[in-house]
Amino acid sequence: MCGIVGVLGRHEAAPIIVEALKRLEYRGYDSAGIATVDASGRLDRRRAVGKLVNLSDRLVHEPLTGTSGIGHTRWATHGAATETNAHPHQAGRVAVVHNGIIENFKELRAALEAKGYAFGTETDTETVAVLCESFLDQGLAPRDAAEQTIARLEGAFALAFLFEGEPDLMIVARRGSPLAIGHGDGEVFVGSDAIALGPLTRELTYLEEGDWAVLTRHSVEIYDAEGRRANRPVRVVEIDAARVEKGGYRHFMMKEIAEQPTVLGNVIRHYLTEDGRGLALPEATPDFARVDRLSLVACGTAFYACMVAKYWFEQLAGLPVDVDIASEFRYREPPITAGTAALFVSQSGETADTLAALRFCQGRAEHILSVVNVPESSIARESDLALPILAGPEIGVASTKAFTCQLAVLACLALQAALDRGRIDEGELAGHLRALASLPGLVARALDLDGRIAALAERLAEARDVLYLGRGAIYPIALEGALKLKEISYIHAEGYAAGELKHGPIALIDKSVPVVVLAPRDGLFPKTVSNMQEVMARHGQVLLVSDQRGIDEAAEGSWAQLAMPAVEPLLAPILYAVPVQLLAYHTAVAKGTDVDQPRNLAKSVTVE
Ligand code: F6R
Repeated sequence: MCGIVGVLGRHEAAPIIVEALKRLEYRGYDSAGIATVDASGRLDRRRAVGKLVNLSDRLVHEPLTGTSGIGHTRWATHGAATETNAHPHQAGRVAVVHNGIIENFKELRAALEAKGYAFGTETDTETVAVLCESFLDQGLAPRDAAEQTIARLEGAFALAFLFEGEPDLMIVARRGSPLAIGHGDGEVFVGSDAIALGPLTRELTYLEEGDWAVLTRHSVEIYDAEGRRANRPVRVVEIDAARVEKGGYRHFMMKEIAEQPTVLGNVIRHYLTEDGRGLALPEATPDFARVDRLSLVACGTAFYACMVAKYWFEQLAGLPVDVDIASEFRYREPPITAGTAALFVSQSGETADTLAALRFCQGRAEHILSVVNVPESSIARESDLALPILAGPEIGVASTKAFTCQLAVLACLALQAALDRGRIDEGELAGHLRALASLPGLVARALDLDGRIAALAERLAEARDVLYLGRGAIYPIALEGALKLKEISYIHAEGYAAGELKHGPIALIDKSVPVVVLAPRDGLFPKTVSNMQEVMARHGQVLLVSDQRGIDEAAEGSWAQLAMPAVEPLLAPILYAVPVQLLAYHTAVAKGTDVDQPRNLAKSVTVE
């Protein structure tokens, strides 16, 4: 949530910061702002409510000069999305941008008010700027004022400070929210992630938990939480700029849906042996024969990936699995017994609730594993073993390719568990892997349904409520379909286990309610069809998603059908994710909503 950028450069900073903020806009778009210090040391700022484009427009008429600057794109937590509440926050000689939440800001603010300092906003961040200014007033140098300020803050933050009269100084800090320092030639950059800095530099240093740093154009001094000089490695990070462009697509979401055959191919190849007959998981992968229980924890779409994986681990490997929403997990205080492996799934690797759940398990669970898209993320770094999903940057706020790649990795893990626990032999494994290797081709065929789905979406766009039904491992895909539709089209949607409908939700059905029935021809197909009949008997408008045989057998009386490629039941959840993504996408397009940046949401949820 919120993206921050900093530049001590050789060229005008504002245009560079705007470009970097564009790449961070997925983290929030309630407001944006920039502060710069010019060569004479003058600190100035511009802010605008709404998307970054409003700030860019403003800068055309009211430009900012200076080669040093900080910038921010906001997802509002404390205080409404107004210009006053927009970052950077300035108090006298200091300007601050912040990602996270300062938990003790009320106490700090009260103490500062008692000393006569005035506040103009409702934000927690303004307190940071005023506190720092109060230390400058006491005669502290900017570096020391920032150090004292950081030491008094509680909560989660990534911060960047800029000072009047100091065009060659920036102080940054990280506690709980990620921050990377980019090294240039006589330039230094700061960003919430590597994507922000991609075109500026490939050489990055990631601050560690509790670090803060003093930056000039020619020096980077990093201190750890105890105030000791710290050496953090410089890594060369490959960010393919083309992968963060829309590449001819109207929206990132559609580009990312369409990329799935490629990225799935990549991730499957990565985890299979060269001959495709075995698994090539890292050596540090636990021996699942020694694991008694698996605890899967995540949020949102990643949680639905965990729900699918529960079916796989239990059915294939006979391994008992708990699945939890991360925001509930640690407050539930689940007893974690010896022999438990805890596995966290996250695209960003920075989701605050998932990270907190991981930390809860440290020292309790025997193994801490994660399945992540961002290899440098906090969740990846704090796990015993992080398995990358190799989906490449996912910019659309609605997760698509990350979901199917998460599922591919989880399928490999479940198969490894089945092998370790003697539930399948090498030959059976090779059979499953052959099917897995055919998945990218099947996904490409499912994508061919795009035009047909776009036509059906015209009808969905008129609905007030939409239901999604599925059984078994397809039930989480029904939940995912409903989540996708809600978040980008704002149509109310619910996913149900098809058999559960008659226990209440069937009361919602009438002729105005489209019901998307996800029914691959697996062992549960006849049962799902019976539930579909119950819906049709109550005039529900069924869109049946099955393969041709399923449609031939069961489509009578349905409103519409989507003929999917036939697929091995194990892999159906991955394949059936595609039509629900496309349905949500085209419905949102038909409604004219903001597909890539839906209202109220942000891609990386770094607050609890
Ligand atoms: C929905 C969506 C969210 C995320 C959730 C977890 O389309 O993207 O539900 O799945 O916020 O995010 P990560 O995977 O980054 O932990």
